[in-house]
Amino acid sequence: MDEADVKEKTVIVRIDINSPMDPVTGKILDDTRIKASAVTIKELAAKGAKLVLLAHQGRLGDDDFTTLEQHAELLSQATGIKIKYLKDLFYGEPVAQAIEEMKPGDVILLENVRYLAEEPVARSMEEQAKTRLVQNLAPLAQIFVNDAFAAAQRPHASIIGFAAVLPAYAGRVMEREVKGMSRALNPEHPCVYMLGGAKAEDTIKILEHSLKKGLVDTVLTGGILANIFLMVSGKDIGGPNVKLITDKSYIKLVDRARGIYADHAHLIKTPLDFVVDVQGKPKVIAVEELPMNVELLDVGPKTVAYYSKFLAEAKTIVVKGPMGVFERKGYERGTLELYRAAANSKAFKVFGGGHTVTIVNEAGLASKIDHVSTGGGAAVSFLSGEPMPGIEALLYSKRRRQGG
Ligand code: 3PG
Ligand code: MG
Repeated sequence: MDEADVKEKTVIVRIDINSPMDPVTGKILDDTRIKASAVTIKELAAKGAKLVLLAHQGRLGDDDFTTLEQHAELLSQATGIKIKYLKDLFYGEPVAQAIEEMKPGDVILLENVRYLAEEPVARSMEEQAKTRLVQNLAPLAQIFVNDAFAAAQRPHASIIGFAAVLPAYAGRVMEREVKGMSRALNPEHPCVYMLGGAKAEDTIKILEHSLKKGLVDTVLTGGILANIFLMVSGKDIGGPNVKLITDKSYIKLVDRARGIYADHAHLIKTPLDFVVDVQGKPKVIAVEELPMNVELLDVGPKTVAYYSKFLAEAKTIVVKGPMGVFERKGYERGTLELYRAAANSKAFKVFGGGHTVTIVNEAGLASKIDHVSTGGGAAVSFLSGEPMPGIEALLYSKRRRQGG
């Protein structure tokens, strides 16, 4: 963004303010992404740009697939700018007129861009440049800024199409994310990954990539991932835990985990103890006591001490997912203590994932962590070495500006 002269220019800004919503009331539950985007918007407005914001909420068919009315309100509050929300509009006469009437520093927010059927279709940048959205909007603007890191793994029209026809720049969120996340892919060693949560497909994918590339020296497992690796190492983890893995069709992942374990067993650490529910009360059990007919709900104090040593000695730490069922009272301690241990380490720290960010915020650890990602799926894709079309489109534009 530093390279863009935005003064009095019309700038299309793709932001990611896709936010979790209460399924009953439809109220936005977390405004982290809205606040993050506000930084870019305020800066561009202060520089005298006329901003046309594009954003999405939810996916077709989901409960949270809805208008951007609340977002406009929250974004106005976060920026201190009265943002004009053009409900149901994307392009056409009323939009052209609204843009025509804008003054430097004005901000317009268009409708949820996924209301357009053409938007969430994967295509090349050249093809996306031919969509109606890009064909109609791009001629009204001079610059495109992509600040939607959290959707950069999507080759969608609003993410990549404009870079083919307008000079395109990274916004502040995008810039910060790429810098922070890149440290995880070019780590100073020893590099420790602490991975937990329920989304084992994501964590296995990250592991496959990072181990293949030799990025990670120690993997501290929790949550479902720990259960899977215990199983793979030949441990009987007990009926309910096996059932959880089988029921959720995690079982496919067990084979992939077996492959990882065959090559890298010495790098993968599993918990030494767990907290389980015995007649309604938390009880610590050693891993040697398994199998027991109980669910593994948290990691125990021996595991916390064991994992904390690796965290203290690390130069780079990547954290994703809780260590257990942290949302259940009485079973949050292992997760919280290990998050604190990671946050207090002198390492460069990257934290990512929806639950992860919630825990970081609730535990008041955000200021101690070098990079807390706003990306869910995007952070996983980035850490897994997958293509990030949104970033590639920006690099393409930069090369073109430099005559490359
Ligand atoms: C997210 O919430 O992960 C991003 O906004 C992308 O949304 P999507 O997964 O529906 O593409
Ligand atoms: Mg999502």
